[in-house]
Amino acid sequence: MLSGGLVFLVGAFLNGAAANVAMLILGRLLLGVGIGFANQSVPIYLSEMAPAKIRGALNIGFQMAITIGILAANLINYGTSKIKEGYGWRISLALAAVPAIMMIVGSFFLPDTPNSILERGHPEKAKKMLQRIRGTNNVEVEFQDLAAANELAKRVEHPWKNILQPRYRPQLVICILIPFFQQITGINVINFYAPVLFKTLGFGDDASLMSAVITGIVNVVCTAVSIYSADRFGRRILFLEGGIQMIICQILVAVMIGINFGTNGVGNMSGSTADFVLFLICAYVAAFAWSWGPLGWLVPSEICPLEIRSAGQAINVSVNMFFTFLIGQFFLTMLCHLKFGLFLFFAGFVVIMTIFIYFFLPETKNVPIEEMNTVWKAHWFWGKYIPDDAVIGGQNLKELTA
Ligand SMILES: *[C@@H]1O[C@H](CO)[C@@H](O)[C@H](O)[C@H]1NC(C)=O
Repeated sequence: MLSGGLVFLVGAFLNGAAANVAMLILGRLLLGVGIGFANQSVPIYLSEMAPAKIRGALNIGFQMAITIGILAANLINYGTSKIKEGYGWRISLALAAVPAIMMIVGSFFLPDTPNSILERGHPEKAKKMLQRIRGTNNVEVEFQDLAAANELAKRVEHPWKNILQPRYRPQLVICILIPFFQQITGINVINFYAPVLFKTLGFGDDASLMSAVITGIVNVVCTAVSIYSADRFGRRILFLEGGIQMIICQILVAVMIGINFGTNGVGNMSGSTADFVLFLICAYVAAFAWSWGPLGWLVPSEICPLEIRSAGQAINVSVNMFFTFLIGQFFLTMLCHLKFGLFLFFAGFVVIMTIFIYFFLPETKNVPIEEMNTVWKAHWFWGKYIPDDAVIGGQNLKELTA
């Protein structure tokens, strides 16, 4: 986290002080590397630190920070764009130093997770840490799980080669498909389309501000809904409800645009139609913000056994960035060819991924992270991949899944 923060800080500095395009590009590359570090380490850190009962809520705190950051950044950008002398962009870019400094300072106060202390061979220290973060001396059962997980992990020398073994097939598949699915919901296309819609709604010059503020607030509030629900009602219910809500919204948006603009894109929307489409967009952003948005980071960080946890998360981050890039590159071309059909295209994917979740993603709420294999073992499809000796603890399984 420290290195991520430092790289990010240098990137922010280069961007803010940029004298030429090369500096901008280099700065942006460093910011990207910084984000990569953060997205690799933060979700795993939070999932390992959190007591199982509130792991979802704590992990989604990361997404919460990001959504608040996006809202703040949009407001700042709007403000700096009004600066007549034209140096506003420097302020915007240099302000990336604020989260960077927070991360750097924070990383000095953050203790290591018991897992990583144990991995480095200090069982006594690891136990102390566990007692400290649980606020009780009674951590025997959990510590035993950690120690067992550590023993299993030690047998594995090459996490990257290992993750390809059949015994990790469920985790590998999920760590590839979840980030792919998260991006193919079309969220970034909706984010792009929202300001256009706001223009037709008559917000005029302030359209992009209004759009950013409204979708930004929906995003923050609905991420809070996810924090509240993930450990109470479970990940699956959020995925399934969110998926269905997104499908409905996308189909209706496609229908409304199709009726009003046809395939040649000429036409207009009456006020009430535009209001309705605006409502649909907000309902769609809401659904994403309490399902695929945060859970796309939570689930991959909690399903992998210790020995492949970093490798799994690295795959998750890379696949996510890769498809963010692809969709960013191609969606305009697709929009030109598919017109309103683009929304149906994404809706089709959301149908597939919702069905996938229904059949292939077991519920992980409240399951201690080191006992996760009990859940895979009990799964109708994945169970056959999990060898008996990979299952740790599990005496609580009945209680947990009851
Ligand atoms: C990093 O993780 C956050 C938090 O969940 C997410 O909102 C963001 O899109 C991720 N960024 C990248 C580049 O993957």
